Amino acid sequence: MRGASSAGAPGIGDADFPEDGNGGYDVEHYTLKLSYDPATKRLVGSATVQAEAVQDLTAFHLDLHGLTVSRVTVGGAEAGFGRQGDELTVTPATPITDGARFDVTVHYSGVPDPIRNYANLGTYGFIATADGSFVTCEPNGAKTWFPSNDHPADKATYTFEITVPAGVTAIANGEQAGPPVTSGATTKFVWREKHPMASYLATMMTGKFDVRTGTSPAGIPIYAAVDPAFRSTLDSLYTESGRITDYWAGVFGPYPFSSTGAVLDDYSAGYALENQTKPIYGGFSPTTGIMAHELAHQWFGNSVSITRWKDLWLNEGFATYAEWLWSEHDGKASADSVFRAYYEKALDPMWSYPPGRAQRADLFNNSVYTRGAMTLHALRREIGDPLFFALIKKWASTHRYGNATTEQFIAMAQQVSARNLTAFFDGWLFRTGRPAATI
Ligand code: ARG
Ligand code: ZN
Repeated sequence: MRGASSAGAPGIGDADFPEDGNGGYDVEHYTLKLSYDPATKRLVGSATVQAEAVQDLTAFHLDLHGLTVSRVTVGGAEAGFGRQGDELTVTPATPITDGARFDVTVHYSGVPDPIRNYANLGTYGFIATADGSFVTCEPNGAKTWFPSNDHPADKATYTFEITVPAGVTAIANGEQAGPPVTSGATTKFVWREKHPMASYLATMMTGKFDVRTGTSPAGIPIYAAVDPAFRSTLDSLYTESGRITDYWAGVFGPYPFSSTGAVLDDYSAGYALENQTKPIYGGFSPTTGIMAHELAHQWFGNSVSITRWKDLWLNEGFATYAEWLWSEHDGKASADSVFRAYYEKALDPMWSYPPGRAQRADLFNNSVYTRGAMTLHALRREIGDPLFFALIKKWASTHRYGNATTEQFIAMAQQVSARNLTAFFDGWLFRTGRPAATI
């Protein structure tokens, strides 16, 4: 597209999610200045998107679901805008040239409307709770609370300036720029995520929280917060988050971010999400196995991100395999015995769902998790422990803060092992039916 003089495309080019993300530019930084009042559930503020054009742009899109846009400026000048479905189209007063850096500020307000009936994903996005907000956006719910290039192929850094009623805590990714500042009836929290982050990992959790901060034994800053209903869990959540993050740094290589942590709210999401630096647990005290899963995502999914959703096993297969490694480390079932138990389920539906092609209509299918993890264990048996763990570390370091594809993983596995693994990966990732394995 470089060089074409036109409007940016309404999608980033993910064949399974054609409306997600946008073409023509690459976001570098989001600055979200937002006020949220849990009593009215209204979100009011602005988002400034700093981006680089990758083509000449007469107009471009952002993803935004619901909410009312009152004003858009580009480079400080008034810009035209229109809404159609979840697309916000911006027409700058003067076209943007290929390669130029530009910033667009969108002023908006309203009661966020989470995504409810998209395939089989449940409710996600910005969800109002009794005392604040619960924000889990995978795969494409960032657009429910800020205008974005809502696809993991375009990662960016973030600044969050969140104003809430005094007494409410606002938590986002990364670290706090300073202590919260209360003036009159409101308190402003400033958080910064200085490492690139996919839009679905951005969060603003608000509400009543008990907080514990400190550092892990290896020196990684920890921020743990729990809804008061889970007060008795705070210390273990804090301690285990640090202990598990340290352990993964030994297995996967250096922790990619500047802090780790956890947020446990009383909203029953029925799932957890690996929000960058602060996994969210929705209404349950997580086992260390679940925490091990979400914290492994910091390397696999968050630092090394997918380029298109069909490669989701690169996130979920790796994080599920991490659960098995944790189980073994914790003196429970070994990874090998977990693998064997699944392999023996000859009639499991996962054998008819190739995990290397996650389906839009069933993105988080168990196969993507379990058969994805089995693929890694089978690979480990195939190439042996030293090469397998060297590969995993190399995967994390080579694509640190970036994006990658299944093809790149296969190529690296072949290069590290000096083996042709085409038939192996074909059977485990791309074909229906249970692959042959010696167990
Ligand atoms: N990535 C999450 C996990 O495995 C699951 C997210 C599910 N998303 C959803 N909208 N239901 O921990
Ligand atoms: Zn996961």
